[in-house]
Amino acid sequence: MTTSKVPFVDLGPQTQAVRNEVVQRWSKIMDGNSFILGAEVKEFEERFAKYCGARYALGVANGTDALILALRSLNVGPGDEVIAPTNTFVATLEAIAHVGATPVLVDISPGTYNINVNQLEKFVTPMTKAIIPVHLYGCPADMAPILEVAERHGIAVIEDAAQAHGATYQGRKAGSMGSIGCFSFYPAKNLGAFGDGGAIVTDREDVVLQVRMLRDHGSPSKYEHDVVGYNSRLDTIQAAVLNAKLGRLDECNKMRQRNAQIYDDMLAEVPGVVTPKVPEGTSHVFHLYVIRLLSEDREQIRQRLQERGVQTGIHYPMPVHLTKAFRHLGYREGSFPVAEEVAHQILSLPMYPELQPAQIYYVVQQLKECLGT
Ligand SMILES: Cc1ncc(COP(=O)(O)O)c(C=O)c1O
Repeated sequence: MTTSKVPFVDLGPQTQAVRNEVVQRWSKIMDGNSFILGAEVKEFEERFAKYCGARYALGVANGTDALILALRSLNVGPGDEVIAPTNTFVATLEAIAHVGATPVLVDISPGTYNINVNQLEKFVTPMTKAIIPVHLYGCPADMAPILEVAERHGIAVIEDAAQAHGATYQGRKAGSMGSIGCFSFYPAKNLGAFGDGGAIVTDREDVVLQVRMLRDHGSPSKYEHDVVGYNSRLDTIQAAVLNAKLGRLDECNKMRQRNAQIYDDMLAEVPGVVTPKVPEGTSHVFHLYVIRLLSEDREQIRQRLQERGVQTGIHYPMPVHLTKAFRHLGYREGSFPVAEEVAHQILSLPMYPELQPAQIYYVVQQLKECLGT
């Protein structure tokens, strides 16, 4: 086995950068023995809402719960349909299924790998209650036509911004454009905790009241329970980590963008490699740097890269409509040709803010050799 020369992700530098501040914040929490909600969660909610350009943010236990609580707060449930792209992390679909609604899937656009907005409207039915666009890999979905279709049909838009903290679309932050934006703070995300965490952002007071109750056992005040809720609060110790990291998010996103530019420049002339597209008017925050290999055996290339010390990933090997968990929806091979083709070709190269230009040169050099170009 080779030791990895270029890891897929290295959280070490970020952890070290905030270590002292996190320890100070944690000491305060321990001094006060205040471990549930409290000052750190409140501070984070206020700062994160402001960062996203939304009136409110509420911390929850993880990104999946953010989606579930968002759907519940809008009364989405059995008998309702929710539209989502088939190329996403399975959690988007899990949330729809857990509230008892039916996921209605849409193929992706071959340029951005996000929901194909040209096909969207034909999936709208009288049962459609919400659309969940996913800003996949850190690239904002094409929100203008999505919001337009939603408004025309009276449908809510819930943004899955779990991979897009700080990304912008026509000057607006991911998560702030629909009725509700949902975030994950899983450690490797652009804004990551030291464990699980999540948040919703919204301008709607009714949503805030609902989510505040739902995350805390359906409770408007202690031992009153108005609805069947969840235990899904953002952990206070995770909020402290997020408070320490939030101020560095824009700088870290810039470092990711610089790294993406180096990859783009070096891969521009490599035949058979398609680099990520950044649509006009958007700022892509490169949670992942995903290329497509048009004519190569992706698994073989991946294996060879691994042998040369380059770790890669695949996001995702199977569109959700083909997973065992969602086969009951009745889709089959051929249902979404673009997503199915792309799933065989995509390859995520190492990407994190502190990745060094020399490491990127090494990755590209090795990739070129493996491709024989
Ligand atoms: C697109 C997307 N949606 C939802 C989630 C769920 O977030 P979490 O893992 O925090 O539950 C993730 C993250 O893993 C994700 O990438």
